[in-house]
Amino acid sequence: MLRLIVLLLAGGSLSAAAPTALPVVDLGYELHQATLNESGQYYNFSNVRYGAPPVGNLRFSAPVPPSTNGTKIFNDGSRAVTCFQAVPAWTAYTADWVVNGTAAFNISAGYQVPPLAATPPADPTATEDCLFLDVMVPQAIFETAGQGQGAPV
Ligand SMILES: *[C@@H]1O[C@H](CO)[C@@H](O)[C@H](O)[C@H]1NC(C)=O
Ligand SMILES: *[C@@H]1O[C@H](CO)[C@@H](O)[C@H](O)[C@H]1NC(C)=O
Ligand SMILES: *[C@@H]1O[C@H](CO)[C@@H](O)[C@H](O)[C@H]1NC(C)=O
Ligand SMILES: *[C@@H]1O[C@H](CO)[C@@H](O)[C@H](O)[C@H]1NC(C)=O
Ligand SMILES: *[C@@H]1O[C@H](CO)[C@@H](O)[C@H](O)[C@H]1NC(C)=O
Repeated sequence: MLRLIVLLLAGGSLSAAAPTALPVVDLGYELHQATLNESGQYYNFSNVRYGAPPVGNLRFSAPVPPSTNGTKIFNDGSRAVTCFQAVPAWTAYTADWVVNGTAAFNISAGYQVPPLAATPPADPTATEDCLFLDVMVPQAIFETAGQGQGAPV
């Protein structure tokens, strides 16, 4: 009871002291906030930028560090980012072939042009600016960072 009163008198914010506060890592060019998977007991730093957008003069070159102009973006990882994916038209036949072998094909019919009209729709999260990675960190490891032996990544 006394402790609670002291906190309130000091203007202490109870919510900020709550154990559920999510960590924010300062990467220099952005402040990145993790989410916590409670049942898995790990922090999920998702969709972390690690390179400048590989567009324009940077297209097809090695990744270069993200630029900073003094403005740090806040990123809570919720914006999904995916590089463009290519799914061959024959993908639809592979499960059939794995299960049924050559019975999956009508061999006497010869080559059949795949049904390209059935090509899957583009992923709305796909973008050329896709130099992002995900880092999962066990909560216990994150909270003892710098105090022990570290952990393999
Ligand atoms: C959280 O972790 C549990 C245990 O590892 C896992 O089964 C579950 O899929 C995870 N939840 C999400 C949203 O990834
Ligand atoms: C600074 O960088 C941020 C993030 O890349 C960008 O949104 C903003 O437009 C930049 N501002 C200037 C003045 O270049
Ligand atoms: C990490 O967070 C992202 C964004 O919320 C989510 O899509 C992804 O499933 C999460 N991964 C794990 C392993 O929890
Ligand atoms: C394997 O062949 C059976 C009979 O033609 C078919 O019903 C089934 O869908 C095939 N399996 C796959 C994975 O396509
Ligand atoms: C296989 O292809 C041949 C030649 O087009 C056709 O006559 C035959 O009916 C086909 N068989 C099956 C099971 O679709």
